[in-house]
Amino acid sequence: MRENINRVVLIGTGAVGCSYAYAMLNQGIAEELVLVDVNEAKAEGEAMDLNHGIPFAPSPTKIWDGSYADCKDADLVVITAGLPQKPGETRLDLVEKNTKIFKQIVRGVMDSGFDGIFLVATNPVDILTYVTWKESGLPKERVIGSGTTLDTARFRYMLSEYFDVDARNVHAYIIGEHGDTELPVWSHASIGVRKLEKFLEDPDYKQDELDNIFVNVRDAAYHIINRKGSTYYGIGMSLARVTKAILSNENCILTVSAYLEGEYGQQDVYIGVPAIINRSGIREIMELELNEEEQIKFEHSVKVLKETMAPVL
Ligand code: LAC
Repeated sequence: MRENINRVVLIGTGAVGCSYAYAMLNQGIAEELVLVDVNEAKAEGEAMDLNHGIPFAPSPTKIWDGSYADCKDADLVVITAGLPQKPGETRLDLVEKNTKIFKQIVRGVMDSGFDGIFLVATNPVDILTYVTWKESGLPKERVIGSGTTLDTARFRYMLSEYFDVDARNVHAYIIGEHGDTELPVWSHASIGVRKLEKFLEDPDYKQDELDNIFVNVRDAAYHIINRKGSTYYGIGMSLARVTKAILSNENCILTVSAYLEGEYGQQDVYIGVPAIINRSGIREIMELELNEEEQIKFEHSVKVLKETMAPVL
């Protein structure tokens, strides 16, 4: 790593990767951003296009199309490459095809001498983060998945609309698989410092409406994919948020996909949980006292991930 020069290598210049790159440039998060894609012309064209926006950016970011060799001096490698969900497909349906692609990518990155942090976004993200950790041999703290960071953002947005408050004052997490078995942690949700259950004492607010909000969060990607073919702005900004937390050593809490070694009573699985994120990657996993219903749903989510992962490892 070089003093005060943050280099991020993005592997995959599809819609998600380029939304991430665009967010990175507009927020001035890194000094260097390298675009790598199996389609070299695409990576070159995206770098050219982004570079032409630099005069409007808050700070200069050096952007170029590169190769795995550029990972040697990278602080962070972000992987968005792989096949995306099609209408009617679940994220877990992608596991076999994307695992094959990932094993090649991770090998290529590690052969460069990379010794930084991986941030994985490709679906099924929890399983592909596990594959990245296994294949790279890096410590678990330095292999992170986007997890339910986007789901938590969707949850906070929809709750902010419902309660008519700034989303930044909505404290509520989605945990579990980034997918159909994710769950809301209602027992710890609050608006400002007022617990959500207190709001339900007001007849204007109803639990079934809140439950419907969660369903819309869980199924958001399907609704978007059915309308525009894929999702990319929300995940791109989520990845930029995690990147900023790492590079700026923020020690902030995000529901990333992290490796559990006993937390929540679970072992040997990557899954979305609140974690403190800083320059070293995952500083600490934050264990919440889940109620019985939440614990049962969380254990089911772990079970589904492990059963899906087993055949491809
Ligand atoms: C979504 C993709 C990133 O939830 O899985 O939009």
